[in-house]
Amino acid sequence: MKLETMLAHHGEDRATYHGAVVPPLFQNSLFTFESWEGIDAAFDDRANAYIYSRGGNPTVRLAEEKIASLAGGERALLFGSGMAAISAALMHVLEPGDHVVAVKNIYGPTNNFLNVYLRRKMHIETTFVSGEDVQEFEAALTSKTKLIYLESPSSAVFSLQDIEAVAVLASANHIRTIIDNSWATPIFQKPLAMGIDLEVHSCSKYLAGHSDLVAGVVIGRERDITDIATCEFELLGGKMAPFEAWLLIRSLRTLPLRMRQHQENALHVARFLEQHAKIRRVHYPGLESHPQYDLGRKQMTGYSGLLSFELATQDLTQIKRFVNSLKLFHIGVSWGGHESLIYAPAISYLKELPLERFSALGLSVSHMRISVGLENAEDLIADLRQSLEMLK
Ligand SMILES: Cc1ncc(COP(=O)(O)O)c(C=O)c1O
Repeated sequence: MKLETMLAHHGEDRATYHGAVVPPLFQNSLFTFESWEGIDAAFDDRANAYIYSRGGNPTVRLAEEKIASLAGGERALLFGSGMAAISAALMHVLEPGDHVVAVKNIYGPTNNFLNVYLRRKMHIETTFVSGEDVQEFEAALTSKTKLIYLESPSSAVFSLQDIEAVAVLASANHIRTIIDNSWATPIFQKPLAMGIDLEVHSCSKYLAGHSDLVAGVVIGRERDITDIATCEFELLGGKMAPFEAWLLIRSLRTLPLRMRQHQENALHVARFLEQHAKIRRVHYPGLESHPQYDLGRKQMTGYSGLLSFELATQDLTQIKRFVNSLKLFHIGVSWGGHESLIYAPAISYLKELPLERFSALGLSVSHMRISVGLENAEDLIADLRQSLEMLK
């Protein structure tokens, strides 16, 4: 089955639910058994049996099967948030005293989890690299390195890592690899096929796509995912609610369509911004001007709708006027939904980071991140144009 057909039909057996066109929502906390032997057998197969919904639920499982198939993984495990999935994947791989090499522009809370939480609680050290050159990863390896953590394209400035080359380096050194693939989604990028061990996502972004749920997923080989399911997943309890899985199943049916439209709209918007006199620079891997455009073409088949740009002015009053004058781009932190959003990293980062660390991430007060939604691209451009005209 091709992707679109698989997302519509995979794992669905209408005969078992009266021909209903939408699979049922199993909104229950536990499952009962006819006999001692029945529950005894279920305990022998904890990773697959349905006993209690913290461990597994048929609605959640159906969404997991579709996502595993979409990403080309043997198995997927859904969590209550992207951070629950990412922290479980990290704790699965790491032991006290290990060393990690990670990309410096990864999602902020992932950076904090590695650099603050795991460092303090488990004496795990992380070396951060820009990730733009494979030699940087190689130079950062130590005898204790257990994991290389990627996010390509990375948050904020959308720089890429050569995924295949990093996977080769890692496997030659018996090092595990994890990638956050939330930006490209498995529609445009398939890291597992490039040799990465575990793929993680914030499903709250494109996979769900309607800004009505928060969820996360880890995808990989059966052995890894089963270990996570019976350990970090069940013990820490970060499970996904069946209702949210049911919404996610709905969302997955339109994922290929939505991604195509996000890409088309974002390319339009990015090209408009790139030629505008009041814009200094646009960061979008889909533009020929992106410094790693060729690498993007090699490892992705398309581009999503999240991009950033720098206004030419550094005057904060002017910058605020620009943001506040937008009518269709609403101000908000997330991305990947149907709606267009704008966010200035300075709003949160300058509360949490000293100015030098903020600048070291390649950011400034004039940096704007936009999530290009599914509205008409001409309307979005008109909105940006009228707001840019407010700038002196
Ligand atoms: C790249 C990336 N990864 C992970 C996450 C965390 O996902 P969640 O908010 O679902 O916990 C986010 C959230 O914004 C993100 O942008």
